[in-house]
Amino acid sequence: MNIIEAKDYDEICKIAANYIARQLIAKPCSTLGLATGSSPIGVYDRLVDYYNDGLIDFSGSYTFNLDEYVGLGRAHRQSYYYYMKKKLFNKINIPRDHIHIPNGLSKDSDKECMCYDECIRARGGIDLQLLGLGHNGHIGFNEPSSKFSGGTHKVALSDSTRRANARFFAEKSEVPSEAYTVGIKTIMQSKSIIMIVSGRDKRDILSRVINGEVDPRVPATVLQLHPFVTIIADKEALSK
Ligand code: F6R
Repeated sequence: MNIIEAKDYDEICKIAANYIARQLIAKPCSTLGLATGSSPIGVYDRLVDYYNDGLIDFSGSYTFNLDEYVGLGRAHRQSYYYYMKKKLFNKINIPRDHIHIPNGLSKDSDKECMCYDECIRARGGIDLQLLGLGHNGHIGFNEPSSKFSGGTHKVALSDSTRRANARFFAEKSEVPSEAYTVGIKTIMQSKSIIMIVSGRDKRDILSRVINGEVDPRVPATVLQLHPFVTIIADKEALSK
């Protein structure tokens, strides 16, 4: 694992955005794996700046988001589709049909998951995957479990994840109890991965991810087995 210590959140975002920009400049038709949540917001802001400055062009790129809540439509303000449109896609020149996010309203979950994996495969896999880190070690919505997951699947969200995400909803009871997520195998098939982690509240889990045994009960520990993972974290997150 390559670990980069940034001085603060702003520097994390700058470094992560530079990785993505470099990927797009080197390979304009790159397939990017994208995350939502609080951590990537500053990364997307910077990418929009780079795009406006003419440094990067998204017209040939493809994106696959990690996850989506089951039961939320694309127009729902808490759906990840809505988040991505607002934070990134509406501000750059990516063609709409190059954007992929699981459909939270799909009537056939098995088909939804199968088609998502098929689409990723058809693109030749993810070139660069951006990850955040959940407090319980989840990546995407791959929650602690007795074994690592395979491809895209439907998951029941843990109570701690629903509590953590309640900040985006009026109250916790509104947080969906299920989500679609790409699997650990799909994440591990990415050619390279960057994980961004900020804040003191992530120090214990980040320490386990870096120093602990590889264990599906802390899903992000699997990243120790990937040859091209870079963790970009601030001093606070790395303080343990
Ligand atoms: C979101 C995702 C999640 C988040 C994680 C951390 O697409 O995949 O795994 O990255 O829950 O969330 P934040 O960044 O809000 O702390």
